[in-house]
Amino acid sequence: MIIKKTSEQIEKMAEAGKILAACHRELRKLIRPGLSTIDIDHFVDDFIQSHGAKAEQKGYKGYPFAICASVNDEICHGFPSPSPLQEGDIVTIDMVVNLDGWMADSAWSYPVGKVSEQAEKLLKVTKECLYLGIDKAVIGNRLGDISHAIQVHAESHGFSVVREFAGHGIGNKMHEEPYVLHYGNPHTGLKLCEGMVFTIEPMINQGSYKLIMDENGWTARTADGRLSAQYEHTIAITKKGPLVLTEQEGVESFLDMYISLK
Ligand code: MF3
Ligand code: CO
Repeated sequence: MIIKKTSEQIEKMAEAGKILAACHRELRKLIRPGLSTIDIDHFVDDFIQSHGAKAEQKGYKGYPFAICASVNDEICHGFPSPSPLQEGDIVTIDMVVNLDGWMADSAWSYPVGKVSEQAEKLLKVTKECLYLGIDKAVIGNRLGDISHAIQVHAESHGFSVVREFAGHGIGNKMHEEPYVLHYGNPHTGLKLCEGMVFTIEPMINQGSYKLIMDENGWTARTADGRLSAQYEHTIAITKKGPLVLTEQEGVESFLDMYISLK
């Protein structure tokens, strides 16, 4: 069942998204060689709590941390660790903010110091995949339009789209219907309506999309050991187009913009 959100509910999720976006903007400044992902986990947990919210991933289905921190060949759900990040690594930080019961979810991949040209290209193309998907998130389009735009862009650069994980509806729960694949055919799937809120979160691999699972039962990594990147936003479908609730640029003006849309 797809639970459409009222504008009041979307406004609450936007408040959660604003905290989340501010946290990612801090991480952009913070992440450097020598810092560990457990340091990042503590920073994020404190940041979210100090804004009166809760890091929803902690304890979710037994997940032990505030963030997922996926380094290099780790695709998603990487466990934060005390070993220092190295110059040239890429790391994806994923988090969910719960503010008074309403959620926002956003993951971002960061370069650690100077990274290879190939890694930079993977980050750039993966971010473009996210925004090309968002462009298709308009009333009357179908989910497959989002999926297809992402797949075409990734594959046109020789990269591949991870199959096992999808975007998802979100609201007063972290995961709801619909599920948003990042590969597929245009003009297929659910028709998008005003009030739907879901994530788009492509995981893009440098090599094959095949993955293997770690023994911790959570962490997925590339089977070929090559790099994987991910960018994720929470978006609302509105009459005026997709509204990115976790946008990092211009978040101060976000609520004004939202109010002007009503
Ligand atoms: N934030 C993740 C998502 O994009 C969920 C992570 S699973 C958890 O769907 F257990 F870590 F919460
Ligand atoms: Co996420």
